[in-house]
Amino acid sequence: MELGGNTILKKNMKRILTLRQAQGENARKRILTGDRPTYDSFHLGNYIGSLKNRVKLQDEYETYILIADLHALTTHFDKTGDLGQNIRGLMLGYLSVGLDPNKATFVLQSQVPETTELAYFLGILTPRAVLERQPALKEKLDQGEQDTFALYSYPVLMAADILLPKANLVPVGKDQKAHVEFARDIAIKFNNLYGQVFPLPEPLIGEVPTLPGTDGQSKMGKSLGNAIFLTDSPDEVEKKVMSMYTDPKRIHSTDPGTVEGNPVFIYLDAFGSENDKAQITNYKDQYTKGQVGDIEVKKYLTKILNNFLDPIRKKRAQYEKQPELVDRILKEGTQKARSEAKKTLEEVTKAMKLDYFNQ
Ligand code: TRP
Repeated sequence: MELGGNTILKKNMKRILTLRQAQGENARKRILTGDRPTYDSFHLGNYIGSLKNRVKLQDEYETYILIADLHALTTHFDKTGDLGQNIRGLMLGYLSVGLDPNKATFVLQSQVPETTELAYFLGILTPRAVLERQPALKEKLDQGEQDTFALYSYPVLMAADILLPKANLVPVGKDQKAHVEFARDIAIKFNNLYGQVFPLPEPLIGEVPTLPGTDGQSKMGKSLGNAIFLTDSPDEVEKKVMSMYTDPKRIHSTDPGTVEGNPVFIYLDAFGSENDKAQITNYKDQYTKGQVGDIEVKKYLTKILNNFLDPIRKKRAQYEKQPELVDRILKEGTQKARSEAKKTLEEVTKAMKLDYFNQ
């Protein structure tokens, strides 16, 4: 019997689709990123530098957010007492800025023990010299961190984090780019030696400028004492903004001021909504001409920041009332990640012929 043209077309389409699915072309790409729970509260710099981007990415990618408590211990091994509070704080931070448990999977690293197992296997393929050359290691040793095996093998554990869920993209800051490239190199080496198991991960470096601190230093940091936190009250925000560094050469409000590189205006640009744009442009113009005082602009910035933070505070308050829910979100995410991890590890041990009893 002759098939009608239409039927052939449909049959072919179906075949193409099945092929595509088999090749995973239709699958959404997976991203994985994470934080070390060495603090319990995010600041505006964290928001601009990474959280904002993650909220956007979760719509497009299958998103894993890892709380890297094992990595935290490479430098904070004497502060394990803070871990619980820090983990809870990070979770509240994620949820309050709009990371959505229906879209993103939250994972607690130490509760996926397959991670350390894979890290050992990856360590087999890691030349010691590569670990000695990591720029991040030198920086940490210069800061006085202890010279330990775990600190050296930091990138190996991170490669395990990335490869275990077979992540395709890893959104990180510039300082972590080398670590993602290391994960990629190890994945290539593994695949060549033992067969194709890992997709090759790539770093995703956001084109975001670093937010300066309230003191005008180039970077906002908790330990620098120049941060505004997502958890700061409206009054705290006001106090911090009113004492912010602006243009040091400007003494009177009638002096022409500099907008460029002035943290007050950088914050206005970063946190003002569409509706605020016209007024911000207006203030910049007046400031340059010496027609507006620092106090007035700072009062305006206080309003802008509190408007930005209000919905975040509200969401956080809701989740703070339901600590069991927050724990459940992390627990369920971790369970999901763990079942993925087990599957990958099975492929790994099979490829490496470390499956003697199943051969
Ligand atoms: N090293 C990262 C940092 O300090 C945290 C981290 C651990 C991570 N494992 C990861 C980031 C895997 C991305 C992917 O910021």
